[in-house]
Amino acid sequence: MSPYRLTRVLPADATDAALRSDVLRGLGAAPKHLPPKWFYDARGSDLFEEITRLPEYYPTRAEREILVDRAEEIAAAAGARTLVELGSGSSEKTRLLLRALRELSVYVPVDVSESALAGAGRALLAEHPDLTVHALLADFQHGLPLPEAPGPRLVAFLGGTIGNLLPDERAGFLASLRALLRPGDTLLLGTDLVKDEEVLVAAYDDARGVTAEFNRNVLAVLNRELGADFDPADFDHVALWDARREWIEMRLRARTALTAKIPALDMAVSFAAGEELRTEVSAKFRPEGVRAELAAAGLDLRHWWTDAAGRFALSLSTPIPAP
Ligand code: SAH
Ligand code: AVI
Repeated sequence: MSPYRLTRVLPADATDAALRSDVLRGLGAAPKHLPPKWFYDARGSDLFEEITRLPEYYPTRAEREILVDRAEEIAAAAGARTLVELGSGSSEKTRLLLRALRELSVYVPVDVSESALAGAGRALLAEHPDLTVHALLADFQHGLPLPEAPGPRLVAFLGGTIGNLLPDERAGFLASLRALLRPGDTLLLGTDLVKDEEVLVAAYDDARGVTAEFNRNVLAVLNRELGADFDPADFDHVALWDARREWIEMRLRARTALTAKIPALDMAVSFAAGEELRTEVSAKFRPEGVRAELAAAGLDLRHWWTDAAGRFALSLSTPIPAP
């Protein structure tokens, strides 16, 4: 068997259909909003990688620190022969797990970004020639047809990407993950933690403006995929902390009143001066909240690790047997 396989769970036109329906719904709503998964075309995936290297963006470094310190412990607790990674991106931190999981034979990275999957797959196979990499180009929120692979399986969802789902989406998503897990499988979940507002806002509004470019990239995606005529320069990047809901919100704020055409949808979208489009929420968590959300989905939090500064957490959970 070839050591690398890519399965397109998204049929050729699914991205297009999903983008159309998200844009119709989200830009037709008040207030306007779009789901964050549309950031990640090839340019967006590259910009995200650049964000992870910014001095202000601590989550990647904090999570890497935990993995450096705890990968052996995680590997011993999981004993996995298959690693499934949701929203795997560059799989850069995953290397630490791959090295520690000595019984591992299959790695299943799952992402909507084909460029990220391809780049990561090439790099990993060079380092682990005995590993089978079965990449899934798939939306992890819309069904995960996992390939047949030996158990136990470790499902990793790193980076704090769970925070990019709204609370009701998180509940549904965790319940669907629980349904995928068999006895002996484990879930490794990365969650960014609540901290000082200045630290949080700086992480999403960096001095070099990389996050602003990442945010505006969603408009470039709409222009390319739907023939829209947004000028990204007409929008300011906004990152604010919602203290009540404990999440960062990224928005694009129209500098002047404007109307953009979206020919593929036969639609025109008007913005008043100062009107905002929400492009992402990034929820931050407290230990008790993570435990409760996992428990509500039928998952038992067994291990909790943080970086030395307590900025970010990794948790390892097991499925609670059905009564
Ligand atoms: N796990 C990596 C990357 C995080 S960036 C890290 O910790 O650094 C978020 C990743 O999730 C991106 O690669 C993006 O393409 C992917 N992603 C976002 N929404 C997704 C969805 N609904 N389904 C599958 N992948 C998604
Ligand atoms: C992928 N995700 C966890 C990132 C975050 O921090 O919410 C995406 C991001 N948005 C702005 N900067 C990074």
